[in-house]
Amino acid sequence: MDNNKPKLVIVVGSVREGRFGPVVASWFAEQAQTHGGFDIDVVDLADIDIPLALPAASPKYAGDDYPRPAGMAPLTSALETADAFVVVTPEYNHSYPAGLKAAIDWHYTQWTAKPVAFVSYGGAAGGRHAALHLENVLTELHAVTIRDGLAFPNYFHAWEEGRPLDPGAAGYAKTLLDQLAWWAGALRVARGAVPYPG
Ligand SMILES: Cc1cc2nc3c(=O)[nH]c(=O)nc-3n(C[C@H](O)[C@H](O)[C@H](O)COP(=O)(O)O)c2cc1C
Repeated sequence: MDNNKPKLVIVVGSVREGRFGPVVASWFAEQAQTHGGFDIDVVDLADIDIPLALPAASPKYAGDDYPRPAGMAPLTSALETADAFVVVTPEYNHSYPAGLKAAIDWHYTQWTAKPVAFVSYGGAAGGRHAALHLENVLTELHAVTIRDGLAFPNYFHAWEEGRPLDPGAAGYAKTLLDQLAWWAGALRVARGAVPYPG
């Protein structure tokens, strides 16, 4: 392991029974491995305890003693140590899943001054409504969203045996990963040099 590589956390945002999300996440993790610019950790929200009821205080101000459930610790630690994120999300009612929103809302500083890219899938819009909503929400946490996302419209026709049929998909993934790696390196240096004023 090259300890200088930025750590990329890939978040599997769907927890639905019979979900397609892990197929997309696993293909994307393979692309990130091939890219070679990151140490990679995949966090599946289905493995995490994410209650909808939050504590009274905001995680923005509470610090390290914020009272999260024990079953959330793997998520918190992955977010804390990440230099970059890829959120893999489906589209539910023109947005992203409620479990993913809860996972975001239980944290704050863990996202700050770090880059986030989106890999979405769904019907005709390819999950872009979900990605656009996530951009909006994560900007509030001072994350830096990456322009180039991957979107898979009508994924039920567009994937076979765990891979997208579009021959351009791997190239789009590389573009996204190149941009994410640039931001991950630049923001890691910046976070180390000067505390973020947010
Ligand atoms: C509650 C719900 C709402 C949905 N709404 C949309 C939608 O607005 N747009 C869309 O493209 N697909 C929509 N879908 C279809 C999902 O894109 C599709 O079920 C996909 O498989 C969900 O990802 P998952 O299997 O990883 O959970 C919806 C699915 C569910 C379960």
